[in-house]
Amino acid sequence: MLTKLEEAARKAGEIMLSAARQDLQAEEKEGDHNPVTVYDKKIQAFLQEQLYSLCPSAGFLGEEGDTSCDVNGLYWVVDPIDGTSNFIHDYRQSTVSIALYEGETPVLAVVANPYQNEVFTAEKGKGAYVNGKPIRVSKRPVESALIGFGTTPYERKFADFTFEAAKRAYLPVRDIRRSGSAALDLAHIACGRLDGFFEARLSFWDFAAGRLLIEEAGGVASDFAGAPLPRQRSSVLAGNLEVYPFLREVIAGVSADWAGLV
Ligand code: IPD
Ligand code: CA
Ligand code: CA
Repeated sequence: MLTKLEEAARKAGEIMLSAARQDLQAEEKEGDHNPVTVYDKKIQAFLQEQLYSLCPSAGFLGEEGDTSCDVNGLYWVVDPIDGTSNFIHDYRQSTVSIALYEGETPVLAVVANPYQNEVFTAEKGKGAYVNGKPIRVSKRPVESALIGFGTTPYERKFADFTFEAAKRAYLPVRDIRRSGSAALDLAHIACGRLDGFFEARLSFWDFAAGRLLIEEAGGVASDFAGAPLPRQRSSVLAGNLEVYPFLREVIAGVSADWAGLV
């Protein structure tokens, strides 16, 4: 199943790469600056068909379009293009994110980055991989960490919180990064390229696959309070075993000053 899933994600990535750039038909969805293109919809439709043929009994939950399913059984959680703003700008840093859940538990995860020809995969209890090679989170300590964060661009009321947290996280570490694809950031923690990540709000499909990659690679992913990630919009905090507790402290400190916001 995982091999076929990986194939489907690679094909979805090819659709991203072969997009007719003059005909993206970008429009705004609800929220502040929340774009969607015809390719988000095309890739989701392609995956919905592929995943149905892989496992007809599983439901489907995708970012684009009216999809809903019984979330007590088996269901796919799909973000067809994570990093739509990057895609519109041809910034070449967007991913396809697919997870298979059984009730509350993620069982399979795939994050494909077609621009680097990389596919990150994980199966519950069986480890995490990139292009078939095993990956682990880093052991880097705080002082040499590289930390990713997201700006929650569709809810700009979190901007003060986010940039204060980014400043406090940045001062003692090597540097910070903002990639524009949360799924890619989480995959990069799983393989040790990034050491930590936070974002004040993400949707379930943004982190559904990435959290299993991290867990299977020996890292930690939770919400800002340290609680397990829910199957809905949530804050997200993740990292290796050294950097995760540091980021939790940073977030707790900012939360104390911005009480009620996150
Ligand atoms: C977005 C990206 C971005 C993050 C946003 C997400 P989308 O997903 O993951 O990095 O900052 O919060 O919504 O809209 O490009 O699928
Ligand atoms: Ca997304
Ligand atoms: Ca998306």
